Amino acid sequence: MSAASGLLIEGAAAIATLAGGLRRGSSQGDAAVLEGGGLSVAAWDGRIVAAGPAGKVEREVRSLGLPADEFRRIDAEGGLVTPGLIDAHTHLVFAGTREAEWQMRLHGASYLEVLAAGGGILSTVAATRAATTGELESGARGRLAEMLASGTTTAEAKSGYGLDVETELRLLEVIGRLAGEGPVELVATYLGAHAVPAEFRGRPEATDAYVAAVIAEQLPRVAEQGIARFCDVFCEAGVFSPAQTAAIFEAARRSGLRLRVHADELAPSGGAELAARMGCDSADHLAAPSDEGVAALAAAAATDRPVVATLLPATSWFMGKHHFAPARRFIEAGVPIALATDLNPGTSPTVSLPLVMSIASLEMGLSPAEALAAVTVNAAHSLALGDRIGSIERGKQADLVIWDVASVDQLAYWLGSRPATTVIKRGRAVFQRASG
Ligand code: NIG
Ligand code: FE
Repeated sequence: MSAASGLLIEGAAAIATLAGGLRRGSSQGDAAVLEGGGLSVAAWDGRIVAAGPAGKVEREVRSLGLPADEFRRIDAEGGLVTPGLIDAHTHLVFAGTREAEWQMRLHGASYLEVLAAGGGILSTVAATRAATTGELESGARGRLAEMLASGTTTAEAKSGYGLDVETELRLLEVIGRLAGEGPVELVATYLGAHAVPAEFRGRPEATDAYVAAVIAEQLPRVAEQGIARFCDVFCEAGVFSPAQTAAIFEAARRSGLRLRVHADELAPSGGAELAARMGCDSADHLAAPSDEGVAALAAAAATDRPVVATLLPATSWFMGKHHFAPARRFIEAGVPIALATDLNPGTSPTVSLPLVMSIASLEMGLSPAEALAAVTVNAAHSLALGDRIGSIERGKQADLVIWDVASVDQLAYWLGSRPATTVIKRGRAVFQRASG
C-alpha cells in the first residue's frame, strides 16, 4: 500500500452527492445536488473528506490537520461530479456472442423457445465451458475497461454460464482474480440455477434433479471457495419455480450467502413475492410482476429490510419488447429502484450505465435524477454496500466520476455517448479520457 494521499477535485459546476441514504418514493428523484459552480471534493486515504464550495472544503481539510498543499489537484473544468456508478446486475464472464439468436427473436422467436431448443443461455454455456480460463479472463477484463470508461467503479458479476461444479467454480475464480486486479470493484454472485444444463435435459424431473445437484454438489463447493457473496436464481415460469428457488435460497442462506433473484422477467411467476418473503436484497428484472408482487415489495419497503427493485431496461429494449418494468408504479408504491445493465451476450450486450439511464428515462419515465439515484445509492443498497459506497459523504469510499456535462439532466441526455472524463476509485484517478 502506498502512503496516505490526498485528492482535491476543483472547479465543478455541480456535485450530485446522493447523500442521505436509500431513495424511495418521492426521494428517488432527490440527487442531493450542490450547485453554483466553483465546487470541490476532497478525499484523503481513499475516503471522502468534504464536498462543497472550494473555500469551505479547503478549510475543512486544514481543520482536520491534513496537508492540503500536497493534495493532487484535478480540475473538473465546469463539469458535474457524481459518485462512481454501481452496476448491480451483470453476467460479466462468458464466451461467445449470440447475434443470430437476437435477429431470430426480433423476427418472432421467443426467448424461452430458443432456450428450450438448446440455444440461448445454453449456447453461451457450451462456449464458456469450451473456453480457457485465460480467454474468459481477458474477455471480462476488456469489458471491465469499457465499464470503467463509462463511469462504473463497482459491479456485481454472476457465474451462471458453467452449470456444472467445475465451470461454476472457474467462473467465480475469474471474478475473484479480476476483483483483485481492480480498479473496478467486483461483488461475486453464484447463479448455478440459471438454466437446466443439456446433460440433465431429457431425464424425468430434470429441473428437480438439477436443483438437487445445485444444492448438494455446487453450493457447498461455492461456499468453501469463499468468493461469492450472493446467490441468484432465474425464477421464471418454465425455468425455476418459486418452490425450487426457495429450496436453493434456504440452502444458500445456510451457507452464508445473501440473496438476489431474477424475478418476473417475462411473466408473473411469484418471483417478487418470493423476494419479499425470503428477504432478498434485490429483485431484478420485474418487467411483468403481479399486483401481489408489487404489493409485497411495497410492504417490504416499509420495513427495515427493503428489497431493492433492480430494473434492467436495456434488456427489454434489446429483446425488442415494447414493454418495460413498471418503474413509476414501483416509485408510487414506495419501492426503491436501482438500474443495471444486465450485461450478457444474449439479452443485453452493453456495458454502459449512462445508456441504461437514457433508456430508463425514455421508456420507463424516470427522471434523470431518479435514474442517477438508481445507479448509485440504491444500487449500493441492493448489494448491501450502502454503508461504504454510492454517495459523496464524509467517510464514504472516494469513488467519483467527473463528467463533461453541466447537470444531472444532461447525463441521460447525450444518448450513447461517453461523457466521463475522469474516474476515481478509492481516491485515485484510474481512468482519464484522452483529450482531443
Ligand atoms: O438476466 N434472464 C436470464 N438471464 C439473463 C440472460 C442470460 C442470457 O440470455 O444469456 C438475463 O437477461
Ligand atoms: Fe440477468
